[in-house]
Amino acid sequence: MKHLLKMLDLSSEEIIEILNLADQLKYELKHGIPHPHLKGKTLGMIFQKASTRTRVSFETGMYQLGGYPLFLSANDLQIGRGEPVQDTARVLSRYLDGIMIRTFAQKEVEDLAEYGSIPIINGLTDFCHPCQVLADLMTIREFKGRLEGLKMCYIGDGNNMANSLIVGGLKTGMTVSVATPADYMPDAEVMEFTKGFDCFEHTTDPLVAAKDADVIFTDVWASMGQESEKAKREIAFKGYQVNDDVMAQAKADAMVLHCLPAHREEEITAKVFEAHANEIFEEAENRLHAQKAVMVKLMAE
Ligand code: CP
Ligand code: NVA
Repeated sequence: MKHLLKMLDLSSEEIIEILNLADQLKYELKHGIPHPHLKGKTLGMIFQKASTRTRVSFETGMYQLGGYPLFLSANDLQIGRGEPVQDTARVLSRYLDGIMIRTFAQKEVEDLAEYGSIPIINGLTDFCHPCQVLADLMTIREFKGRLEGLKMCYIGDGNNMANSLIVGGLKTGMTVSVATPADYMPDAEVMEFTKGFDCFEHTTDPLVAAKDADVIFTDVWASMGQESEKAKREIAFKGYQVNDDVMAQAKADAMVLHCLPAHREEEITAKVFEAHANEIFEEAENRLHAQKAVMVKLMAE
């Protein structure tokens, strides 16, 4: 494993190794056991979009591992003035030990990896959000004790979160059911990947997808960069809400997860959100532990 660009690139074994290391690093942090695996290393963090969790968890995580994080706003880099990503990659590779990037096009992340010579970590693109899904899988395992055989249901837009959850769920032996409007399907490459799995289902009906689910996921109706489509999306996604009716279809002990930020009374009701707040905020915390595991796997000697 040289980079973390998308879940499709990871083997099932690599995913489990990351989750095991994340559990260990969480334990060490909670018990005051130092773990300076990246002493003296630097991580550049390029942000073309806003962030609370990704920025703070990577920055803190790098510090806890003994390394140094640099926040690089795209607006202040020459990349924001048109310097090609290919050149940025070759320059930053000479200063840094790793790069985390949050941007729009997946190709930009893939280009960084191709032209640079240091590990690249995808901190969200329009296509996928692998760091989030590793934290999500870690959280499910923590609450349910296993992944294999559980049913994960995703309700909402078929974009970055759906794409990564589908691949991460199927690669770890989960049954995955997804409800999206017909015009907001998961990416074609991801749908192609699902063809090898009997335990995958796509429907346009949230109540069908939620049937007997162990875990229910949702995400915002309008993602970053789609602000101008807000009104159109409010119409398209009406009914794609995690509410009491959806929860009534799921198992009685079903978990609810949300990558956050959440829009109450849009994709999830305040009532369901608060009833599952302990799971959702543990999930947010687990970003820290899962990403530390990724950085150690990629950047430690
Ligand atoms: N879930 C997530 O990636 O949050 P941020 O946008 O705050 O980083
Ligand atoms: N789908 C959301 C996820 C945010 C973490 C977005 O891309 O804005």
